[in-house]
Amino acid sequence: MELKDILSQFKDDLKKIDSLDALELMRFKYVGKKSLIAEALEEIAKLSIEEKKALGKKINEAKQEIKEKINELQAGLSGAKSESAQDLFYKTLPGKKPAAGHLHIISQAIEEIVDIFKPLGFTRVRHPEIDWEHFAFEALNIPSTHPARDEWETFFIDALPDKKYGRQVITPHTSNGQVHEMLRGQLPIRMLGISRCGRRQEDINHLQTFFQFEGLAVDKGINITHLKGTLDYFAKNFFGPGRETRLRPYDFRFTEPSFEVDINCGLCLGKGCKFCKEGWVELGGAGMVHPNVLRAGKIDPNIYTGFAFGFGVERTYMMKSGTKIDDIRHLLNNDLRFLEQF
Ligand code: DAH
Repeated sequence: MELKDILSQFKDDLKKIDSLDALELMRFKYVGKKSLIAEALEEIAKLSIEEKKALGKKINEAKQEIKEKINELQAGLSGAKSESAQDLFYKTLPGKKPAAGHLHIISQAIEEIVDIFKPLGFTRVRHPEIDWEHFAFEALNIPSTHPARDEWETFFIDALPDKKYGRQVITPHTSNGQVHEMLRGQLPIRMLGISRCGRRQEDINHLQTFFQFEGLAVDKGINITHLKGTLDYFAKNFFGPGRETRLRPYDFRFTEPSFEVDINCGLCLGKGCKFCKEGWVELGGAGMVHPNVLRAGKIDPNIYTGFAFGFGVERTYMMKSGTKIDDIRHLLNNDLRFLEQF
């Protein structure tokens, strides 16, 4: 190929360069060992000494020029200092990092609770979140006429009731799982039921949609010290050393005796604040399973006894050391500025 053709082709090729890789290919094509210039130099071997000298000089000058041009362009591309060079050569732009998400704090809390109870032999189970009134109340020793039902602020489903089981409800607590679990007929029981619940109530301390975790142990010889030991073990592992629990006698229809379990407030550590008012926050209820509940689950209360407890996941998490959440509704607002802190 004649030198002028090589040069004009080089100019055309140059316009198409958009990356360092393409530039490297050009270097091979024009000034490498088997390049067009190398070929041109080979061809002049046949010429006379004078012609060889003259043309050889021209070819070497052209080679030099091509090399310089390529080096210049290379510096422009790899330096990527100017905006245009960066745009030409996308590889030099730092990549965009996709935002890495993480589990929602409620899911994190559930995982942690499950892990704490696992070594004690409690297995996580789930029971219906839309269930018959029977399992949410009657089977738990709360007949339809009992005023205690009002405490549960229940959402009823607009559907035909069942003759035996009554209406359908969005379960207002996970205690509905107790009799479901007993009716599976496998004893002893050590269950940790975690499910979504709903109640017609919402304020700084309550959500309409929330999670509860329900512990139930049924076996021969279960007594109140097993309940106390289990609650203490949980409190120590979940809340840390600075926190205390207390049991307050209470009346749940499905346990006898019954307690409300309180923990000293994580925000003020017992002094009293906007969130807790008196220094203590109620975590949930607990007690020894009522004989009528065991009977509803086809278990003989003369042979077996059990304890149960039910806590709200969100509230329990909020009471954890270092979690300064002063309004439970933050948990469901889906504001990333809040969620990314956990
Ligand atoms: N289900 C009760 C509630 O939501 C909490 C509760 C109390 C659960 C006593 C229990 C229990 O298992 O034994 O208010």
